Amino acid sequence: MIFLLLSRLSAKVPSVVYRAALIMKPQVVFVLGGPGAGKGTQCARIVENYSYTHLSAGDLLRAERSREGSEFGQLIDSYIKEGKIVPVEITINLLRKAMEDTMQIDEKKFRFLIDGFPRNEDNLQGWTTVMDGKADVKFVLFFDCSNEVCINRCLERGKSSGRTDDNRASLEKRIQTYLQSTRPIISLYEKQGKVRTVDASCGVDEVFADVKTILDKEG
Ligand code: ADP
Ligand code: C5P
Ligand code: MG
Repeated sequence: MIFLLLSRLSAKVPSVVYRAALIMKPQVVFVLGGPGAGKGTQCARIVENYSYTHLSAGDLLRAERSREGSEFGQLIDSYIKEGKIVPVEITINLLRKAMEDTMQIDEKKFRFLIDGFPRNEDNLQGWTTVMDGKADVKFVLFFDCSNEVCINRCLERGKSSGRTDDNRASLEKRIQTYLQSTRPIISLYEKQGKVRTVDASCGVDEVFADVKTILDKEG
């Protein structure tokens, strides 16, 4: 009798899990840090080891810039070169669509690393307007390192990245944008106890060891 009950129960488990996944709200980790802090590098490592989908706001904007027929291509291009933050109406729609597409293809993919967002007040407001109640922000993963390290890494990346903003002139502006607009957002989340800080100045493996400690603790 007990065996019968147990076997019936276990037969039901997959469909219960499946249905739970279907109704899961997206679980979001915002990934922030200066330009070149290693956000993309670490997100790639996280994806290899944990069930997260990586969405980089910068990558989405660059893809939209190159999309044939995009009405925003030129605007995005000039904002990126100037190290300015693109109006959130554009970015939030790209992010929302990418999240929806991911979950439509595989409803079990509801954990997202949103890299390089929210970068200023406008980004944060856009997120609140469009996504509040539709996704849970678990915490902010903050890759902390000096401006000097950030600049050197981007200049090194610039030798092969083909990016229009990995040059000294753009980088000076990007650092200013980071200090003036993004740091206050990180501070805002810090006051809510939502920031998990990693020292991003050491090697990739060492940084990832700290990331793992955080993710294993957060569950
Ligand atoms: P972000 O996405 O924050 O702009 P990336 O992950 O693209 O930064 O890294 C910027 C550059 O620095 C890349 O060329 C990358 O290979 C390199 N890099 C990333 N993390 C480290 C690290 N911990 N130590 C040295 N170089 C790194
Ligand atoms: O994160 P990443 O370095 O790829 O961002 C490159 C550029 O993309 C930023 O300097 C900015 O011009 C633009 N961007 C933006 N809004 C975001 C993320 C990136 O305007 N939330
Ligand atoms: Mg990046």
